[in-house]
Amino acid sequence: MASISLLEASVTILCFLILFYLRFKKHRGRFLRNWPVLRMLPGLLVALQYRIYDYSVKILEIFDLTFLFKGPPFAGMDMLVTVDPANIHHIMSSNFSNYIKGSDFQDVFDVFGDGIITTDSELWKNLRKSYQAMLHHQDFQRFSMSTMTSKLKDGLLPLLNHFAEEGTIVDLQDVFGRLTFDTILILITGSDPKSLSIEMHEDELAKALNDVGEGVFYRHVKPKFLWKLQNWMGLGQEKKMIEASATFDRVCAKYISAKREEINSSQGILDTSDGVTEDLLTSFMKLDTTKYKLLNPSDDKFLRDTILAFILAGRDTTASALSWFFWLLSENPHVVAKIRQEIISTDLPRTGNGQENLDKMVYLHGALCEAMRLYPPVAFERKSSIEPDVLPSGHKVDANSKIIICLYALGRMRAVWGEDALQFKPERWITENGGLKHEPSFKFLAFNAGPRTCLGKQLAMTQMKIVVVEILQNYDIKVIKGQKIEPVLGFILSMKHGLRVTITQRCSV
Ligand code: HEM
Repeated sequence: MASISLLEASVTILCFLILFYLRFKKHRGRFLRNWPVLRMLPGLLVALQYRIYDYSVKILEIFDLTFLFKGPPFAGMDMLVTVDPANIHHIMSSNFSNYIKGSDFQDVFDVFGDGIITTDSELWKNLRKSYQAMLHHQDFQRFSMSTMTSKLKDGLLPLLNHFAEEGTIVDLQDVFGRLTFDTILILITGSDPKSLSIEMHEDELAKALNDVGEGVFYRHVKPKFLWKLQNWMGLGQEKKMIEASATFDRVCAKYISAKREEINSSQGILDTSDGVTEDLLTSFMKLDTTKYKLLNPSDDKFLRDTILAFILAGRDTTASALSWFFWLLSENPHVVAKIRQEIISTDLPRTGNGQENLDKMVYLHGALCEAMRLYPPVAFERKSSIEPDVLPSGHKVDANSKIIICLYALGRMRAVWGEDALQFKPERWITENGGLKHEPSFKFLAFNAGPRTCLGKQLAMTQMKIVVVEILQNYDIKVIKGQKIEPVLGFILSMKHGLRVTITQRCSV
């Protein structure tokens, strides 16, 4: 009897989904209908199979930049989705203290522990202060510049030369992912995992990070009880999350104990006058705890979470930005010509470009910002309200409401960027006098806004500029025709199928 009703129920649900799917195909624009009981959940599930990012653009234009998504009652899925710059400014800056990441965010990102990306309040404040001191310290800046240039000279260029000689088709996104992974790992731990090599071996930590990226996205769009249940049972996507977490623990523990041994054997030789040494792990191990009031900074769990926070912040973000940038260049050869012209007029040396020279490259800077406007590496941000509030758009927010800021849609809103919002136009960022045009961060949110603005912005911009200049000076990149280019569903806006290209060497710029 029970099995018959189960069968009947399954057939009914299947028929409903087929009917819904057919209806959706016919009326794509109206897919977020408010159904009884399930409300907008079916629409969301179907949209996930389609191009959810582009649908978010349409929906937010139709609803004047702010839209209330309703999930089934008690599923905890209701969320206010906004791309209204006035709301963003309010949430990120003027009423910052009312909008936190919250416990739901921490649950979704639980495999990363208590690093800066997931925490709030006093812990976040103290973490940020300490991270800031380290990232902005001159010793670290020198170390990061030398790491980036040597990774380029000894890693990227030999590899690209090899691909050019062999005429191999190569996934450029994979290459950038390996470059940024090796770079951030050297900056954190001082040791090079050498994932960027001709063998292109798969690093277990990099693989675990990829699995987690997808899992985190699904945790955002599934009812919490469902993914918690799957996690408890070790099923599907959640099985991968459990395995990834175990990999994080094991690999981080290895880095931490190796670093401890290194510090003990060097007996303080690494010290500089005010305590900040080269790599970040060494600096954190030697941190003056009283200055930053951090919980157990010499504790392994703290160090594990710190390593992961930096990798999460700095690896895929930069690789995603570079990949979309090179794809946009392939579609816009006149932009390549202009950047090459700027390289010639800036008189950059052929390898290893100094920071001051890179800062002079206004057009390149504008082109990178333009790529991140259309393809922001962090595709969406999530906030939770503490107290009830009213947003500048007039939308009411209850206490503990979920708010999603969709960066991908924000960059494509005609109401925000003008009628040509969908076009790739680096000129948008250049003033009449040839200077750089400033756009407020609540409109260009790629590096976040307000007190939680990205701490690695300068580092990331420098790395991207060095890579772009080096590649455009030395190679022609041809994107293979006919491949499908679309974003993956994930926390980071990577390309779902990568970016397959061929590379040829150039004789001169
Ligand atoms: C193109 C590259 C990058 C982009 C687009 C980017 C973007 C962002 C965004 C949107 C946030 C806010 C995330 C959130 O609150 O949920 C963020 C935070 C952060 N980023 Fe970046 N990031 C990039 C590269 C880097 C790099 C290379 C580093 C470090 C080496 C870094 C360090 C951080 C840190 C520490 C935070 C946390 C700030 C806080 O919560 O106070 N980022 N970044």
